[in-house]
Amino acid sequence: MPLLPPRLGVNIDHVATVRNARGGVLPDPVRAALVAIEAGADGITAHLREDRRHIRDADMERLKAEISKPLNFEMAATDEMLAIALKTKPHAVCLVPEKREERTTEGGLDVVSNDNHLKPYIAKLNDAGIRVSLFIAADPAAIDAAHRLKAPVVEFHSGGWCDALAEGHKAKADAEYQRIVAGLKQAVALGIEPHVGHGLDYATAEMISAHPEVAELNIGHFLIGESVFVGLPQAIRTMKAAMAAGRARAE
Ligand code: PXP
Repeated sequence: MPLLPPRLGVNIDHVATVRNARGGVLPDPVRAALVAIEAGADGITAHLREDRRHIRDADMERLKAEISKPLNFEMAATDEMLAIALKTKPHAVCLVPEKREERTTEGGLDVVSNDNHLKPYIAKLNDAGIRVSLFIAADPAAIDAAHRLKAPVVEFHSGGWCDALAEGHKAKADAEYQRIVAGLKQAVALGIEPHVGHGLDYATAEMISAHPEVAELNIGHFLIGESVFVGLPQAIRTMKAAMAAGRARAE
């Protein structure tokens, strides 16, 4: 029997980024989540940042209420976020590092020197039946720390690999890729489910999906950007039809 591909978690943060740039309610990230699910997404990922720069509290509540597939709530390990997660009860929480000044999540969690801080958050989420994932670099020590912390899932940060590939740094890209491949094996050997995310596009998603250990990919920026190109032609046709329908009323 052929192996099933990894699950696809679609990150809809950047629909909210566009909405917030204009103000108002459009485009609606929850509508994007529903469209993504209709098209085959296996889950929806959304990051409620401390500064609420894209997803807002009300978006998270609506996502939980309106989507039919698992919700993966990305958040920093803070008391405020823990309280919101315990109230929202998403399927999963992915703990990510968060720095105010960064444009996106730039590095993995420092699980090795930070495990005392993370431990109670992981324990409380585990106790609430929420599947905890730690967003980490695919480093052996970080994977061991995730195991000690009893995280059932890790998500390996693929940004370094994808950026090196995009910038043509072949040796660095190969090394980053091999680090992720080794990490996948280490995680599975420890009973941890490995996910991969950040910076993935069609080509890198295909490459990493060749590894049967990968249970899930979380992809946002590329998909939202790409959907402009595949979706704009239809939006233009529908707009032209609306304008023609209006003009026909004048006759
Ligand atoms: N996984 C995690 C933990 C992330 O923080 C992000 C970015 O928000 C992603 C996946 C998706 O990354 P990208 O938007 O580059 O596809």
